[in-house]
Amino acid sequence: MKSVLFVCLGNICRSPLGEGILRYKANERGLDIKIESAGTNRYHVGDNPDSRSILVARSKGINISRQVARQFRSSDFDDFDLILVADAEVYRDLKSWVRGEDDMKKVDFMMNMLEPGSNKPVPDPYYGRQEGFEKVYDLLDKVCDSLIAKCE
Ligand code: 4NP
Repeated sequence: MKSVLFVCLGNICRSPLGEGILRYKANERGLDIKIESAGTNRYHVGDNPDSRSILVARSKGINISRQVARQFRSSDFDDFDLILVADAEVYRDLKSWVRGEDDMKKVDFMMNMLEPGSNKPVPDPYYGRQEGFEKVYDLLDKVCDSLIAKCE
C-alpha cells in the first residue's frame, strides 16, 4: 500500500486527524506513503481543521493546523490505493462519485483496519465536546498503527 485517503463528511474533524497521525507515524519510520484527506460535503472546503481536532493532535505532538479541507473527487479513485471512510453515511456518499464497479473496491471503513468487516463508525464528534475528539484520536491512533504494520 503506497497511498491512503481518509474521508469523512466535513474534512475538518475526523479525516484530518487520520491524515496527520498517519503522516507522523510514517515519517517516524521513514515510510514513503502518500497521505491525504477529504470530505464528502462542501461546507468546510478551504477551512483548516476544527480547533478541537487541532488541540487534541497538538497535545500528542502532532501539528495538523495547516491542513486545508477539500471535497472528495472522482479522480481520488485513481490516485489512492486505499480510501478509508469514517462511517456508513460517508460510504453511501462516495457512491455518487463512482464511475465503475471497481471504484468501490478501494473503499473500506477506517475501523475495519482494527476489526475487518465490522463496518463500525468513527463517531462524528462535531456536535459534542472535547472528550469526543479525544476518543476519535485514540481510535485513529490504533487505526494508523494497523496501517503502518501493513506498510512495513
Ligand atoms: P467531520 O465532522 O466529518 O469529522 O469533519 C463534521 C464536520 C462538519 C459537519 C459534519 C461533520 N457539518 O455538517 O458541517
